[in-house]
Amino acid sequence: MKPRVLVTRHVYPAAIGILQEHFAVDYQDGHGVMDAATLARRLQHAQGVVCQLTDPLGAEVIGSAPALRVIATIAVGHDNIDVPAATARRIVVTNTPGVLTEATADLTWALLLATARRLPAAERFLRAGEWRRWDVDLLCGADVQGRTLGVVGFGRIGQAVARRALGFGMRVLYADPEPAPEALAQELRAQHVPLDLLLQQSDFVSLHVPLRESTRHLIGVAQLCRMKRTAFLINTSRGPVVDEPALVAALEEGLLAGAGLDVFEHEPRVHPGLLELPNVVLLPHVGSAVTSVRSLMCALAARDCVAVLRGERPQHPVNPEVLG
Ligand code: GLV
Repeated sequence: MKPRVLVTRHVYPAAIGILQEHFAVDYQDGHGVMDAATLARRLQHAQGVVCQLTDPLGAEVIGSAPALRVIATIAVGHDNIDVPAATARRIVVTNTPGVLTEATADLTWALLLATARRLPAAERFLRAGEWRRWDVDLLCGADVQGRTLGVVGFGRIGQAVARRALGFGMRVLYADPEPAPEALAQELRAQHVPLDLLLQQSDFVSLHVPLRESTRHLIGVAQLCRMKRTAFLINTSRGPVVDEPALVAALEEGLLAGAGLDVFEHEPRVHPGLLELPNVVLLPHVGSAVTSVRSLMCALAARDCVAVLRGERPQHPVNPEVLG
């Protein structure tokens, strides 16, 4: 009998083709999100699952899937999966880094520029028919050129964001537990500094850390208080990296100039305070949302699922220790 693979939500068709060559595919071809109980039920007889960041694959769900050997997520972040629980069961977890790096860095810059230059407000103003004439002080924003960018988390995406800053003549600071190799830091003209110093000196603070217990609320009241009153916070990583109520309070009190957010603590819910603020640009988690990129991510996850179930090495294991 062919191994059984669950695909939890709609994916680009190439992924289904790849999986159907080898497996019996239980495909939930829709945009609805399965809750934990449904996932547990659908996984009872599955050897593999191709999932998304909206799927809650906690220890209990994993525990209720006795035959499961691979969890292939169509995302780089895997905080929705209890990886230690999977590892304990020798289930391989795979993700899709690399293919989304440039698209996510582009989106980060689009958001940074949109926030600094108030693009959504300007467009709303025009569409509302309020544009009467050119005015010297109409919808003025903040400088980007020559300012200081603070990159928090200097992995692939953080580095790609820093590379784009070269074109804006920016000074780049980065905070990361691991300093980058000297040659790379020099190429990107990026200086390794402690997070507190980065927060004090940056005009734009851009977050690129994975969500872990150590990064949950990495940016809270104390960190927001360290930022310049003229600075902007940009987050395209994971919502819970920022203490959202603390951010709302800081913005209301004018402790920083604004924020550009693509991710939220309780997606798809957005803190009502954020919706009220005029100096915040809000996007619905579209960091890697480029058709070709998402299609590649789907195919990559499907191929890694195939690899594991055929006893081959997947391209992007999150817990390689399981592979021996
Ligand atoms: C998107 O947020 C991802 O982790 O790929």
